Amino acid sequence: MYSTSKAVLALAVAVFAAPAVAGVAQGANGVVASRSPLASDVGIEVMKAGGNAVDAAVAVGFALAVTYPSAGNLGGGGFMVVRLANGDIVANDHRETAPAQASRDMYLDQKGELVAGLSTASHLAVGVPGTVAGLLDALAAYGTLPREAVLAPAVKLAKDGFPLPADLAAQFERLRERFAQYPASLRQFTKPGDKPYQVGDTFRQADLAATLERIAKNGRASFYGGRNADLIVAEMHRSNGLITHQDLMTYRSVWRAPIRATYRGYEILSMPPPSSGGALLAQMLNMLEPFDIGAMGYGEPATVHLMVEAERRAYADRAEHLGDPDFYDVPLAMLTAKDYARERFSDFDPDLATRSELIGAGTLWPEESPETTHVSVIDRAGNAVAYTTTLNHGYGSKIVVDGAGFLLNNEMDDFSAKENTANTYGLIGREANAIGPRKRMLSSMTPTIVLKDGEVVFVTGSPGGSTIITTVLQVVVNVIDHGMDLDEAVAAPRFHHQWLPDRVVFEQGALSPETQSTLAGLGHVNLAEIAFRIGDANSAVRIGDTLIGVADPRNPGGAAGF
Ligand code: GLY
Repeated sequence: MYSTSKAVLALAVAVFAAPAVAGVAQGANGVVASRSPLASDVGIEVMKAGGNAVDAAVAVGFALAVTYPSAGNLGGGGFMVVRLANGDIVANDHRETAPAQASRDMYLDQKGELVAGLSTASHLAVGVPGTVAGLLDALAAYGTLPREAVLAPAVKLAKDGFPLPADLAAQFERLRERFAQYPASLRQFTKPGDKPYQVGDTFRQADLAATLERIAKNGRASFYGGRNADLIVAEMHRSNGLITHQDLMTYRSVWRAPIRATYRGYEILSMPPPSSGGALLAQMLNMLEPFDIGAMGYGEPATVHLMVEAERRAYADRAEHLGDPDFYDVPLAMLTAKDYARERFSDFDPDLATRSELIGAGTLWPEESPETTHVSVIDRAGNAVAYTTTLNHGYGSKIVVDGAGFLLNNEMDDFSAKENTANTYGLIGREANAIGPRKRMLSSMTPTIVLKDGEVVFVTGSPGGSTIITTVLQVVVNVIDHGMDLDEAVAAPRFHHQWLPDRVVFEQGALSPETQSTLAGLGHVNLAEIAFRIGDANSAVRIGDTLIGVADPRNPGGAAGF
């Protein structure tokens, strides 16, 4: 075992001496791809210090809370799928839970209508945070380095600061008025005197550094109890928040059996409920498997039509059947069975779009950007980690816990606050995902590891709310069916359908004018090219002894390797 003080010192020094990162990086020893170049560097330095992929993923998770506060977090939740070199496969669920005082109709007015903003932009929107418990549990179970060593780079980044990149500076400016509702948030994301940060300014977060230091020294008790719990509860009392000391003390991450599916001889490992990601990915792959997608061709009308119809049916099942398995009897075996998928897809018509028929879904894209973030790590020994983490919206609830320096999530909006009524992502839900005390809200996060012949081939995942699952589906299909290299598979333009609203949205270049007109002829009349990008699939692949990290070119993330 590495000595704590030596490891802490080495990592604290190394994080600023790390190599520059780029969109694609390779090495024989370890690779990391994440939304933040600084955080990817942290992962590499942890592996250089003797850590494995789990140590690296945990260190990157904590670092992202500092360097990518839009989605990296201490006050949110996430899912980690791990495939160890010894063949063990595990998944850690550290999704937020509804506070004990939460109730089914808590976001409805007396007429039974949703109160705008209550589930997204208020203290009532905050679920009990899970990230700290989950990362520390993963480290204790499968890491090799001391906790203090793994947290040291994040502490240093928060304490000493880092040059503010352009994307964060723009986000701080864009959200200034939202932050201004909460004095601690405004202080965190503006310079003294409420002056805006400029690109290149050193961005220091003293309160966050102190919180991270306490976690490094004293572990989970220092987050879910003591001063930190007092600060969270005091923050709740500033408005209508429900989280109590009891909620915090009783929060637990849960080890779950990952979804295991097969697709054309590959094994797909992904996240089970309370994420819908793995179940839908398996279901859609099962529907697609009988078709020779490779021969049909990338971006061709027949391929897009086929995939859209699979997506339509899978997302319809999501609304009905998926929720927290500890509270609702999710028919997981059925949903992931090949027979079920074939039966469910038996009405597929290659010449005609199905109508989604039901009405009532909301707008797919609200003013909030869907934010979450994904990290992929592979080490030399063959350990692989797919880690997706979120505050829900970018910067979550926008509420920084006064005195603790971290943002709180607004994950409660991922519940179905009212039957058949859309949430932020236009997703509807029913009983399975109704709000209940201590229940976990349904997610779309899809951290995924793909194996062939028992060896890790690639790791992927994405942010993007409801589009997470179709983004991962397209990366998998691009690699396995279209034979693309991982960087091409990640860069290839994407499309998305989610049953309701009955609409195919697509990135520029995803559907040629000819493809669009053929699809319209099949009945896909609601086709919408969107100005923003779908997903951010930071991924990693193993080719023989070479490991390659791929940061999605849609965003200024970074891959690093050594
Ligand atoms: N908050 C987005 C998700 O978990 O799907």
